[in-house]
Order: sequence, then C-alpha cells, then structure tokens
Amino acid sequence: MKNSNLVKIGHSDVLATPLGLGTNAVGGYNLFPDLKDSDGRELVRAALDNGINLLDTAYVYGLGHSEELVGEVMKEYDRDKIVLATKGAQDFTTGEQVIDNRPEFLTEQVNKSLERLGTDYIDIFYIHFPDHDTPKAEAVGALQKLKEAGKIRAIGISNFSLDQIKEANADGYVDVVEDEFSLLHQDHLTEGMLDYLHDHQISFVPYFPLASGLLTGKYDHKIDFPADDIRSQIADFTEPRFSKVLKAVDVVRPIAKAHQATVAQVVLAWYMQNPLISVVIPGAKHAEQVKANAKALDITLTDSEYQTIEQAFDGFKHTTSGKSLADPE
Ligand SMILES: NC(=O)c1ccc[n+]([C@@H]2O[C@H](COP(=O)([O-])OP(=O)(O)OC[C@H]3O[C@@H](n4cnc5c(N)ncnc54)[C@H](OP(=O)(O)O)[C@@H]3O)[C@@H](O)[C@H]2O)c1
Repeated sequence: MKNSNLVKIGHSDVLATPLGLGTNAVGGYNLFPDLKDSDGRELVRAALDNGINLLDTAYVYGLGHSEELVGEVMKEYDRDKIVLATKGAQDFTTGEQVIDNRPEFLTEQVNKSLERLGTDYIDIFYIHFPDHDTPKAEAVGALQKLKEAGKIRAIGISNFSLDQIKEANADGYVDVVEDEFSLLHQDHLTEGMLDYLHDHQISFVPYFPLASGLLTGKYDHKIDFPADDIRSQIADFTEPRFSKVLKAVDVVRPIAKAHQATVAQVVLAWYMQNPLISVVIPGAKHAEQVKANAKALDITLTDSEYQTIEQAFDGFKHTTSGKSLADPE
C-alpha cells in the first residue's frame, strides 16, 4: 500500500507524495522548444490537482523560466502543501556553461531561485552537478547553513558518483540524491549506490523514469527519428537494444490490462513499490499525460507482478552504454 503513503525525505521533515512531476519541459525552451507557457502552467496544475505534491524544477530548465512558471502556479495553491524541489550549480555568465559548487556561488543560486520562484523557502535544493574543484563536503556544508537559516528544508545532490556521494555526505548532511535510473538503466543498483543511500537514510529520486517515453509502451515498432531529434542518438531507441526493450515492455502489457491501467501507470507503480526508490518524477508534455500518470498512485502490484516486471528487465542491469544525456561535459 506504499503508493498512497507520504515519503519522508532523508533526515528532513519534508513529506512528499511518492509520485512527483518533472518540469524540464515547463518553460524549458532550451530543452523542449515547443511547449507554450500556458501549457506548462497546465502541466503543473494537473499535478497539484491530481494528488501529486512534489514539483521538480531547476535553474537550467529555461535558465530560470521553469522556476518562474512553477512559482506562478504555486501562488494559486496552498504553499505549505507543495514540496518544491529545484537545482542549481550552473554559471552561464561567460556564455558557456561552467559548473560551480563554491559555497558563495551555491548561496547566491539559492537566493536567486527563491526570487524567481516567489517563495521564501525551497523544500529540496539539489547541487545539480558536481564541479571538479570544490571539496564536496564544503559545498554541502554551505547548503547546511542555508537549511539552518530556513531557506531550504532538505539538502540534495544530483549526478554525483557513489564516491562523490560518500565524500559529500562526510558530515551526514545529505538528505536526497537524484540521478538517472529506470528499468532500462539500473547501473546504480548494481554498483551499490542505492544500497548505500538506503543504509544512510538518504532518499533516492530517479530521473528519466519513463526512459523519455519508451517505457510508456507507446512505441511498438522502430521509429526513424530525424537526426536533430535527440532520440535518434539514444541507444535505447536504436538497434539492437530497441528490440530488446520492446520485448521487455511487452511483459508489462498483460499486467497493465489486469489492472485496467496503462503500461506507464504500471511502470510508475513498480518504482513506487521499490523499497530503494523514494519519489519518482516522470516528466510530461501534456496535462493529460500528467493526469494519466497520477492514476499510478492508485495501483498496487502483487508481489508476483512486481517480480515478473523485475525479471523482464533483468537483462538491463549491466547494459547501459555511453555517457548520460544529462552529463554537461
Ligand atoms: N537531475 C538531473 O540532472 C535531471 C536530468 C534529467 C531529468 N531530470 C528530471 O527528471 C524529470 C523526468 O525526466 P524526463 O521528463 O526528461 O523523462 P521521462 O520522465 O523518462 O519521460 C517523460 C516523457 O515521456 C512522455 N510521457 C510521459 N507520460 C506519458 C504518458 N502517460 N503517455 C505517453 N507518453 C508520456 C513525454 O514525452 P513525449 O510526449 O514527447 O513522448 C514526457 O516528456 C525531468 O522533468 C526533470 O525534472 C533531472
């Protein structure tokens, strides 16, 4: 029955629904150019109106514009009922992206995010990417000061390796880690990251949970994406991997049918029932997708269904190839 329970974020007192909304398409014109501001606001409303309380945004989504739109919609709702997560660490002042984790830069980023969001506290602030030079515990120490000052409520890090997480958590301050993980990309399970987080009461929030739509079951044959569409370069969408993905997704279809649900809803329910996962944050391009995904909160898989899905994707535990798409360098 985990899907209806609230999830405590790390050592903080933040309580999130196990399903959140990823908002990289909301105002994220540098990532997805086609979504109008009004559509973006509708996505956020669809989440908050349908049982989702966690909104995941970042400075880099539209260089502040996603935060502005999320902030606008938040004003229509009770702020205290929303778990607002944002991220920072990127400096674009030279025209090029520079990752900066120095305490003074992170403090400035939190203050700027607060301004764009139009709120006086952020529930979860993530260091979006590690830089090369700043000692990780020093960067997290800056966030601890902001936590003590009441500007943020929980400390997050994102895109850190297991060794970097251990360094960052030297003082035990890290509440939550966000990183790529899905049924198709389970490296963090096999390399021990998820066990480390679980053992240290650090929450885990996987991103790309639907593998950019592939795990919704909407693709049933090979798609020739145009060369400028990023999916033409993602190994999951190209052979020989693509056919293997479709075969595994086919195993989910009868389970979805038995629940009168979609493949996406069952996949999201699977994450919510995984004890190593805290909050799953699918993104969306249409409010209808958000409403449909929210129905996953009502699905409880049997142990046998859960294991059947796990086994169907067992072959993806060691097969991730290439750099993460989110890698900035
Ligand atoms: N920390 C980081 O570095 C980092 C990096 C990446 C992402 N993130 C976060 O993680 C979130 C999730 O990642 P993501 O949105 O890129 O990928 P995702 O959740 O794996 O896939 C989302 C995409 O799947 C499709 N989709 C969603 N629901 C659907 C449904 N019910 N039916 C059919 N299609 C559906 C939509 O794309 P189409 O309609 O175009 O198919 C949607 O944009 C982001 O929004 C962001 O907040 C964080």
